[in-house]
Amino acid sequence: MTKNILVTGGAGYIGSHACVSLLQAGYQVVVLDNFCNSQPSALERVQQIADKSLLLEQCDIRDRAALDKVFSKHAISAVIHFAGLKAVGESCQQPLFYYENNVGGTINLLQAMQQVDVRRLIFSSSATVYGFPENMPVNEATPLAAYNPYGQTKQVIEQIPGDLCAPGMTESWQIALLRYFNPAGAHESGLIGEDPNGIPNNLLPYIAQVAAGHREWLPVFGDDYATLDGTGVRDYIHVQDLVSGHLLALQKLLQVDASEVFCRAYNLGTGKGYSVLEMIKTFEQVNNVSVPYRIMPRRSGDVASCWADASRAREELGWEAKKDLREMLADSWHWQCKKTLV
Ligand code: NAD
Ligand code: UFG
Repeated sequence: MTKNILVTGGAGYIGSHACVSLLQAGYQVVVLDNFCNSQPSALERVQQIADKSLLLEQCDIRDRAALDKVFSKHAISAVIHFAGLKAVGESCQQPLFYYENNVGGTINLLQAMQQVDVRRLIFSSSATVYGFPENMPVNEATPLAAYNPYGQTKQVIEQIPGDLCAPGMTESWQIALLRYFNPAGAHESGLIGEDPNGIPNNLLPYIAQVAAGHREWLPVFGDDYATLDGTGVRDYIHVQDLVSGHLLALQKLLQVDASEVFCRAYNLGTGKGYSVLEMIKTFEQVNNVSVPYRIMPRRSGDVASCWADASRAREELGWEAKKDLREMLADSWHWQCKKTLV
């Protein structure tokens, strides 16, 4: 029987890619989104790529009555929960708004799930929960130490499943917490990708906008870190690889008996780190474009280096990132060039 998967935040960057893969894998997809950081047109393109249709519920996860209606309308087998706000700077300006949306919204969602006995959940967490880790690569046993309101919302949400899955609870939940490193790239069709409003916070969209001539130069935040060339090192992972991790985690959760408790965190990263200057140089080479940049002071809150030990996801989910940096950067550029046309 076809399984209905509820995808919160399904119109967003990662969620839209996940919807394509879920539809292609034969799941029925119900997207729940309030479009606060996305457009309904992304979902039209998702359906175009997959050549299948999905169901849309325009709804806010903070609205419990609306969530209850969604769960009573559709027989949901599992929830993939992408919906959330993700701008670190904005979270420092408006912490209560971030806690309300991300933590409050997730509690609402869990309560609505509990009400109808839907207890399989995949949650979008982030490497940001590790704070300033001392040793690289970072594995899942590294203590959580988020240091900005956005990261704190992820860390607080991660604690809830621990309590739901504590010994002696009468209900059994099956939960995967996926800690993303730095998502990059876009769907190979060039029809969906990351489309930030205003000045991009993240490196890759900024590089792509400079290459396209929409911005004059890229600010490189610091060249005096203890890294190979002094610029920050991160573990960039192709969004399609990230999504394949969700499908494997979903398979795993669906295999676990409903009476069994399952709660596990997984790092999703490639295990390789690249510096900002390496990213610029490779983007220029792969796409035959120029990316002017200027060295600027360090951005506050940045770590020097962060890359993943993803061996747990490999061993337990059979997951591995397959796409390399060149493919991420080519797909980012393809999307950047095409998005004004779609
Ligand atoms: P995104 O902003 O593109 O997508 C999030 C989606 O959630 C948007 O469509 C938005 O409209 C929706 N949304 C937000 N609040 C909502 C609410 N209250 N009710 C209903 N819908 C709501 O972000 P993304 O990059 O696709 O990230 C998806 C998830 O992954 C987020 O939870 C984010 O924190 C997490 N994450 C992202 C990154 C990254 O760098 N992109 C890294 C680590 C973790
Ligand atoms: N950088 C620049 N110039 C820019 C933007 C970024 O030099 O204009 C540098 C940063 O200083 C850092 C690297 O590029 O060294 C990556 O920065 P991003 O902002 O792209 O990514 P972060 O690692 O800071 O954070 C991202 C998300 C977080 C998420 C984290 C881990 O923004 O939400 O990845 O998943 F938690």
